[in-house]
Amino acid sequence: MTTMVRLEPSGHQFEVETGETILEAGLRAGLPIQYHCSNGTCGECKGIIIQGIALPALHHDYVIKSAEKQAGTVLLCRTTTNQDLVIQANEARSAEDIPQQNIMTRVSKIDVIHDHTLILNLRTPRSHTLRFLAGQHAQLEIKNHLSRIKTIASCPCNGMILQFHFTHNAGDPFTDYIFNKLHTRESVYVSGPFGKVSLEEDDDHPIIFIVYKTGFSMVKSLVELAISWDKAQTMHLFWITDNEAELYYENYCRSWAAVLDDFQYTPFLLNGANKRTDVILMDSLENICDLYPDISRYRVFLNIPRRVEKKGKSMLLGRGVEENLLHMDDIFEYR
Ligand code: FES
Repeated sequence: MTTMVRLEPSGHQFEVETGETILEAGLRAGLPIQYHCSNGTCGECKGIIIQGIALPALHHDYVIKSAEKQAGTVLLCRTTTNQDLVIQANEARSAEDIPQQNIMTRVSKIDVIHDHTLILNLRTPRSHTLRFLAGQHAQLEIKNHLSRIKTIASCPCNGMILQFHFTHNAGDPFTDYIFNKLHTRESVYVSGPFGKVSLEEDDDHPIIFIVYKTGFSMVKSLVELAISWDKAQTMHLFWITDNEAELYYENYCRSWAAVLDDFQYTPFLLNGANKRTDVILMDSLENICDLYPDISRYRVFLNIPRRVEKKGKSMLLGRGVEENLLHMDDIFEYR
């Protein structure tokens, strides 16, 4: 059986399935509901039932005062329902509303795509998932001394599985370790989140993503969130790489094009044999802008190498992209 919950004041709605807590269902829908422990001890997920009757699902140690109880206060992580509800709940509105967290995770899967690209999946404890916004980053620490801030490639709708995409830079101790020594079940300490690049649910600007190589990880998180929101927004992805082998999630891009109403995917291979990569990258940006004479209508997410970011930004602004609609990868601010 499925019931509907509406949160106030946001008006967000989501389905709750039998056996699910309201918090689990809300997170699955990609909503940034405030919570911390998920096990009934902190009180962070308190909500007030405005309409309908909620059902206690699980025991909790947190004590709800009797005046709060009378006002309809429940813990969303310990409550379910068999009827439609309206609940007043706290949701994060921006990155500032999400606290810094520290979580010990374990490696659940390592997918080596080829010699120099790897996908890492980390699993958090069930009762201690990471709260973050799509497009944000986290610091990974291995063996107490190797650490790196990386963009989270997975959707916040599943905070238990955190995905990261790596390029191998031979001689860099962190990526050398990830590619040559890291093994499943190994502990990885995760802290964060960092960064402000994200989607806004009530924003309807069409979107252009322009990313280079593993800069794709930002897109993966953002698009998966848009899918969990069931958002019908125009999105065009330009994935720039040096060769076809680096389009490591092309099957995802093609399935998004099939699932979403207006998602276009264009791989962009840098094959200008006699030119430097940076020159070809800038040429590619020019070519993409040529396709959009109305580019000032678009929200543009740009994730290209840092050495050409400034040039890329001023070129896009010069071609008509509105500064407040241009989002650059901000990971370097946290390194
Ligand atoms: S998240 Fe801590 S009590 Fe619900």
